Amino acid sequence: MNATITSTAHYVPEKVLTNSDLEKLVDTSDEWIKSRVGINQRHVVSDGEASSDMSTKVAHSLLEKRRISAANIDVIIIGTVTPDHPTPSTAAIVQNNINAENAWAFDLSAACSGFLYALETGAKFIESGQYKTIMVIGVDTMTSILDFEDRETCIIFGDGAGGVILEASKSNTGILGSVLKTDGSGAESLNVLAGGSKYPASPTTIKNRQHYIKQDGKKVFKFAIKRMSDVSTKLLEDNGLAGKDIKLFIPHQANKRIIEATGERCNIPLDRVMINIDKYGNTTAGTIPIALNEAVESNLISNGDYILLAAFGSGFTWGSILIKWDTMV
Ligand code: COA
Repeated sequence: MNATITSTAHYVPEKVLTNSDLEKLVDTSDEWIKSRVGINQRHVVSDGEASSDMSTKVAHSLLEKRRISAANIDVIIIGTVTPDHPTPSTAAIVQNNINAENAWAFDLSAACSGFLYALETGAKFIESGQYKTIMVIGVDTMTSILDFEDRETCIIFGDGAGGVILEASKSNTGILGSVLKTDGSGAESLNVLAGGSKYPASPTTIKNRQHYIKQDGKKVFKFAIKRMSDVSTKLLEDNGLAGKDIKLFIPHQANKRIIEATGERCNIPLDRVMINIDKYGNTTAGTIPIALNEAVESNLISNGDYILLAAFGSGFTWGSILIKWDTMV
């Protein structure tokens, strides 16, 4: 029994931060950001708005589109590295906000691969036969961990959320397969060092700006292309498919040059590669479900189409998931 996606939704905050806004904060330029990263603007939360608020909006929209009540949801899984609090989980807050009285809920931490890891987990719950309806959300409030004095990170990220509802496919469509990976030796290249049990928040960690995301951009750039294309190519081969068979490739939106190079290495024509980084920047666990919902709303996907998702992020974590699109009920 395969799991299939029966509803998609996304939400980004109203407030927009443009490249010219960033020019006033760090030594950068609209031209550099557009040409090196492909971002024109990103949406950012307003004071007091957090990951649970964006996720709750997505959750309501998913239920409305699927025309079911929150009581139908068995499990809520939220991929995020920017939860509202260390505890309780953002998923627990959302469960309460939408009154999903029959659901158990938890967060999953896999950075930019968070949505794919959560989707795979939700799909396995469906395949087990024990659960019927799973809500999977990817959300990040990256501005809560951005150093607006570090031009190599603050220009890249934005805030946003997207999600899906998973149910059992009536035919052999839906999620056909996946390849997911972790290589913890990459930890030093992309991380937020403090605020956990290793370096609890202290005046020193604050002084050393260790609550912000730091990266070795060049290393991440190379690894992202190689590893996303390696797992995507393997997944295609495992399923007897080639790049030309894919109707839409939805890679994590980290950098336009990473997206284009990955598509090329998978032999997927550029016009079948979903790119919306120009509008939102890198929303971490949000990028793939936001792009998926935009693709659905723009009628880029029809029943029977093969859709390939791919992500790479801190950990390192990465992976690819293949979907044969099924009916949106
Ligand atoms: N504005 C203007 N110049 C900048 C800049 C900015 N925001 N950030 C870096 N530069 C400068 C560098 O200091 C460097 O200057 P120098 O040549 O005088 O030393 C020059 O631009 C080129 O730097 P380089 O690091 O080669 O740029 P790049 O083309 O690799 O782009 C990243 C930098 C960070 C955008 C790119 O490496 C990247 O996207 N990496 C992946 C990051 C990522 O996806 N992270 C999230 C993981 S999912």
